[in-house]
Amino acid sequence: MSRLKVGVLVSGRGSNLGAILDRSLAGDIDVEVAVVLSDVEDAAALDRARSAGVPALHIPPGRFRTKLEPDAERRYVETLREHGVEVVALAGFMRILHDEFLEAFPRAVVNIHPSLLPSFPGLDVQRKAIAHGVKWSGATVHFVDTGVDSGPIILQAAVPVLDEDTPETLAARILIEEHRIYPEALQLLAARRLRVDGRRVLVDADTESDS
Ligand code: GAR
Repeated sequence: MSRLKVGVLVSGRGSNLGAILDRSLAGDIDVEVAVVLSDVEDAAALDRARSAGVPALHIPPGRFRTKLEPDAERRYVETLREHGVEVVALAGFMRILHDEFLEAFPRAVVNIHPSLLPSFPGLDVQRKAIAHGVKWSGATVHFVDTGVDSGPIILQAAVPVLDEDTPETLAARILIEEHRIYPEALQLLAARRLRVDGRRVLVDADTESDS
């Protein structure tokens, strides 16, 4: 099977990128990280990509705080295309993408979010989960649509919220699950095992390992 070419968009430390790279370089998943793009020039994630030999570029986002300027968004799309990217994985990329970007990669943009969506979309979610008093939180990998953290859910993993948790301790527990399920979701895409039926993402049987 040819490896799925994934472009990863990052803004920060890049631990999810690291988990994907580790599984990819070990040959555990049929995924090749073709390029890493960041809106933040000194993001640690860029160094992580470069030390794994993956092209890593900073593309300035323009003057907006929460989204990309249209020209910048076009540069992201062009650069991803130049690297033959088939699927775009957002890994701690802190900007909202618009229709034009999503239409360039139909049903092929995915995101990881540190809550059990649809609970707690957006930012500062571990603090909100603790303040709300939920007993379970977790991680979600989902397709990106035009809303905020609202697209069809591919995989989720739950973790308990403990009485003594701070946002930091809860985030660390969730992150372990993020690092497990993000590469797994990308492998499902690589194996073409996902079917989207309305809001539901159905996982086809693994015919490769059956045979
Ligand atoms: C991760 O916890 C990810 O789920 C979150 O940012 C962190 C990035 O960490 N993403 C969001 O909150 C997106 N709404 P990383 O740079 O170490 O992968």
